[in-house]
Amino acid sequence: MLAFLGSLLALSVTVPLLVFMAAPYIRKYIAGGVCKSTVKLNGKVAVITGGSTGIGKETAKDLARRGARIILACRDMAKGEAAACEIQTSTGNQQVIVKKLDLADTKSIREFAENFLKEENELHILINNAGVMMCPYSKTADGFEMHMGVNHLGHFLLTFLLLERLKQSAPARIVNVSSLAHHGGKIRFHDLQSEKSYNRTLAYCHSKLANILFTRELAKRLQGTGVTVNALHPGSVQTELTRHVPLVDIIWRKITFFLKTPQEGAQTSVYCAVAEELESVSGKYFSDCQPAYVSAQGRNEETAKQLWKVSCELLGIKWD
Ligand SMILES: NC(=O)c1ccc[n+]([C@@H]2O[C@H](COP(=O)([O-])OP(=O)(O)OC[C@H]3O[C@@H](n4cnc5c(N)ncnc54)[C@H](OP(=O)(O)O)[C@@H]3O)[C@@H](O)[C@H]2O)c1
Ligand SMILES: *[C@@H]1O[C@H](CO)[C@@H](O)[C@H](O)[C@H]1NC(C)=O
Ligand SMILES: *[C@@H]1O[C@H](CO)[C@@H](O)[C@H](O)[C@H]1NC(C)=O
Repeated sequence: MLAFLGSLLALSVTVPLLVFMAAPYIRKYIAGGVCKSTVKLNGKVAVITGGSTGIGKETAKDLARRGARIILACRDMAKGEAAACEIQTSTGNQQVIVKKLDLADTKSIREFAENFLKEENELHILINNAGVMMCPYSKTADGFEMHMGVNHLGHFLLTFLLLERLKQSAPARIVNVSSLAHHGGKIRFHDLQSEKSYNRTLAYCHSKLANILFTRELAKRLQGTGVTVNALHPGSVQTELTRHVPLVDIIWRKITFFLKTPQEGAQTSVYCAVAEELESVSGKYFSDCQPAYVSAQGRNEETAKQLWKVSCELLGIKWD
């Protein structure tokens, strides 16, 4: 009996002690890949969509610290200005400016691009980061389902409008923030705007798959231009992305220890934007600063081609 109590006591001391000692290692594992590049970006210009918070803000901060001129493309100007202020203070880089961009409205996207092209002579890094997840069924100003409209079509149009400037500034890079969630996605050509059936989880997955297909198709089209495009999964990151799902939001707050911080979540975006070894790598998909596995759907060249064509039609643009 005494021996039993003794071992129980020993266990109750050693187990927590072991957990306590292992915690930093577990945390490091969860934090994931780190961008080790020390490249400076003085004289370079970077546009980051959705730079007002979360992964986008931390990505902007990192690039600002490297000396780049940063344009935060935000739909909420006040929130954007607050982020710009924070970035300026913490990096000492004053060249952080905010411009209005609502990806749920093609008029706003065109105005942003027009204004940008008038005021900036160069563009070296475009980070298509903004995104919505699992929002209730809603449509953009142009009648696109919100996930497809913002996550895919909005960035498609933005990239189209800025592409000439990227080419002129080559070497230049486009970075598309996709997600592991693309594995659950399908491109439903018969119901692209989910009017016949809507499932908000799947809608997010579809839009993130579209990101990957576009990255592949664009990479092909950009061969030889000095402009590369890659996609990535940032990891599971504590951000405002869960804002439309109260339950997930609550759980997310409870398991913070097991999630990446936004700064950790920004590492793969930064890696794709600056790493020397990716200079001529294009059309690839990364996670934790390493190449990662793309779903079969995401590798389908035919789907990529067709989605490209349909996207051009929906947006009324000619892109070939
Ligand atoms: N967090 C994760 O675990 C995770 C996992 C996989 C992939 N991702 C991807 O990572 C990217 C960044 O997400 P996050 O986690 O940092 O989420 P977040 O904190 O919610 O940030 C999303 C950003 O997108 C902006 N945005 C949303 N709708 C917009 C619109 N119509 N026009 C312009 N900007 C818009 C938001 O602006 P407001 O703040 O003004 O709304 C915000 O700045 C997304 O593409 C997401 O799919 C995240
Ligand atoms: C990413 O990639 C292409 C460029 O390849 C662009 O047209 C597409 O819409 C981009 N944006 C996102 C978020 O996928
Ligand atoms: C939406 O799709 C997910 C993933 O396939 C599934 O688990 C869920 O039950 C679906 N939700 C509804 C309301 O059909």
